[in-house]
Amino acid sequence: MSEGRSLPPSFLWGAATSSFQIEGATTEDGRGESIWDRYCRQPGAIADGTDGAVACDHFHRWPEDLGLMRELGLNAYRFSVAWPRVLPDGTGATNPKGLDFYDRLVDGLLSKGLRPMLTLYHWDLPQVLQDKGGWASRDIVSAFEQYTDVVTRRLGDRVKDWVTINEPWCVAVLGYVHGVQAPGLKDWKLGLRAAHHVLLAHGRAVPIIHANSPASRAGIVVILSPSMPASDSEADQTAARAFDGEFNRWYLDPLHGRGYPADKKDEYTAAGHSSNFDFVQEGDLETIATPTDFLGINYYSRAIVRSSAIPESENRPRLIPEPLASSRTDMGWEVYPQGLTASLQRVHREYGAKRLFVTENGAAYGMEPGPDGAVHDEPRRAYLEGHLNACCDAIDSGVPLEGYFAWSLLDNFEWAFGYRMRFGLVHVDFTTQKRTIKDSGRWLSQVLRDNRLPGRAT
Ligand code: FCB
Repeated sequence: MSEGRSLPPSFLWGAATSSFQIEGATTEDGRGESIWDRYCRQPGAIADGTDGAVACDHFHRWPEDLGLMRELGLNAYRFSVAWPRVLPDGTGATNPKGLDFYDRLVDGLLSKGLRPMLTLYHWDLPQVLQDKGGWASRDIVSAFEQYTDVVTRRLGDRVKDWVTINEPWCVAVLGYVHGVQAPGLKDWKLGLRAAHHVLLAHGRAVPIIHANSPASRAGIVVILSPSMPASDSEADQTAARAFDGEFNRWYLDPLHGRGYPADKKDEYTAAGHSSNFDFVQEGDLETIATPTDFLGINYYSRAIVRSSAIPESENRPRLIPEPLASSRTDMGWEVYPQGLTASLQRVHREYGAKRLFVTENGAAYGMEPGPDGAVHDEPRRAYLEGHLNACCDAIDSGVPLEGYFAWSLLDNFEWAFGYRMRFGLVHVDFTTQKRTIKDSGRWLSQVLRDNRLPGRAT
């Protein structure tokens, strides 16, 4: 065994969740309807036919959940606020009971020595705003400004790490193009508008956060995935570059002052996805590139891209084979820790990011408590170990990574997959709401207490 690898002394060790995935209580204390409440009622939208009405019942059980975080030894917690709990009509009158809930939660976190990282938007838009076009309508930007103002005024004295938006690609493309997330639309034109308004709302929110929350840090969270051609054929290389453009560069470029990537603009125009990008108004790109204090990276896997334009039989042989089932999580996502190192290095080297957090990283494996009552989830432990080593590799190469948030604290409502996909460090029995810390959670707990990864067997 080698000595192990230490993390920087002030490293943030957290777990991440989001409001709709854990809170439940969707009609309680004046909460308005969200697009996810509505989407879940669409026949066939959710794989197991469930919804978020109860989820982990965190709205009632949050003190117990804070206890679990303490037991795990975390020093940070990333969570999101449900916009419809705070502003049930999207804009206008605030709901005091909704704000009180987050107020108590923040105080509870601080009293337990946990640094809150608050995400303003993790996908549960008030349905009333969707009825007016949602993110595809430019009006959403001023609505988000108002919402940001309300939340930061109330919590800005205590919350010092703010995330504006979680994963713009998922909001825009999964929600408006592929229709596999709320609001379930399938229209590239709307998707590109939505992506723009998400980024614009982010840029407008940053100064509001700084004004209402002194000495705070504001940033956005993007999901990144290195895009690798399956072969060295031109077709696969072109397809991989196109995927990189859609998934990574479409967001990273404008956030870093480069505007939208020209190759993708040409491609989207040729495909009829946009009429001249007329939704980009004067000054928008400057707003989107408003300097932030950190960039949050969510990382799960890489993308191995094969051109669909050429039949498999005619394309060059694969250099990267399709990953075996044994190297995939329950989501079908390949376990590929090197992609995390590469993504962190990329934003540091290519985009000059100065402070980074891994704001989500984790794996779905469905292990249930055994006869001994414990949850033996060795694959998740191995996933965490691999990806934490990937973080260390990035840090060793000079990447300014200052924290790691595991996805997720609890097994929870995994969007369109319902309760079938379990990402938690803590197992949740959704019938009894019993929580059980998994073996992986116990392992992570030791690592973060030591602030050191154990050495690997050589
Ligand atoms: C991310 C989401 C998060 C969770 C994980 C598995 O894209 O931000 O809410 O669903 O995937």
